[in-house]
Amino acid sequence: MRDRLLAAEKVNAIDWRDGVLHLLDQRALPFEETWLAYADADAVAEAIRLMVVRGAPAIGISAAYGLAMAVRQRLAQGDDWEMALEEDFDVLFNSRPTGANLFWALNRMRERLLRVKEGDDVAAIMEAEAIAIHDSDREANLTMAQLGAELIRKHQGNEQALLTHCNTGALATGGFGTALGVVRAAYLEGMVERVYADETRPWLQGSRLTAWELAKDGIPVTVNVDSAAAHLMKTKGITWVVVGADRIAANGDVANKIGTYQLAVNAMHHGVRFMVVASSSSIDMNLESGEDILLEERSASELLAVGGVPVGADVEAVNPVFDVTPADLIDVIVTEKGIVERPDTVKMAQLMCRKRLH
Ligand code: MRU
Repeated sequence: MRDRLLAAEKVNAIDWRDGVLHLLDQRALPFEETWLAYADADAVAEAIRLMVVRGAPAIGISAAYGLAMAVRQRLAQGDDWEMALEEDFDVLFNSRPTGANLFWALNRMRERLLRVKEGDDVAAIMEAEAIAIHDSDREANLTMAQLGAELIRKHQGNEQALLTHCNTGALATGGFGTALGVVRAAYLEGMVERVYADETRPWLQGSRLTAWELAKDGIPVTVNVDSAAAHLMKTKGITWVVVGADRIAANGDVANKIGTYQLAVNAMHHGVRFMVVASSSSIDMNLESGEDILLEERSASELLAVGGVPVGADVEAVNPVFDVTPADLIDVIVTEKGIVERPDTVKMAQLMCRKRLH
């Protein structure tokens, strides 16, 4: 399966070339495929804020490359470079608040920095660490794709209809995707008849990005408005909801794109299984429950206008971009360390003690 997934790889959104980060501008997709170059930490942080790059794992990987560029530049400035580097850490840490991977990747970069020895080529070491973060995310996704597909087979067999939310594919990660990686693997194994993609207001990650990725792979995809999900569960024989995660708390509560929580409530009502796919870099064992997760809110203008054209009355609007799904609504969390069925604090702690499976 791993080789078949590798052979099917078509989309890439992060390219590290000649010491510069190149990002596929996700704001312009699917109409334009524009690559933009980012040469320092400030620019990378801005790209994250503006959603040129998005999806928790892709944000973490980009930040690691941003930090690697900052190390090289600060070193060239001479003494006190480590103090100056703290500004780069800060600007990257503050680029987006909810996804755990950003913090995980920057902390991993800091730990590597603390281990450099006299005479080491620090810039080369930090660049290699960023590349390792990128590669390990891709590897984790390959492992999770196989684990998730096995679950889908075990619990429903062939000819299934899956529903997914937001974009969790190659665009959102270091490659293949988390939830969308599972969808891809299940399709390659002949289990998927159709994928329903919530359009995912207001940024339309579903209709612009997920639909684009799946169509490129020839996977049958139908886009629906977010509010159609319950109706589709009732009428279209949906067997699984498969989503990603931005941050998972120690008790298994999951923060993900706004709308995920209502999908889980609806899935439970309709007897549809609910799978969360995320690597262990999305798990934050410092947070007891989802109550402690900081949820990003973005500007009201994202709701009240589309492409700069007003689509609503000129009133207040609230735009929370993530919500928390309680662990007791989740059938299974799939990670590269293994799966956790009916997650809780004990099972999550046991998972985190395990090694990666591959
Ligand atoms: O606001 P976005 O597009 O960055 O939100 C992305 C999501 O919510 C994804 O579901 C999540 O990051 C998991 S992606 C592998």
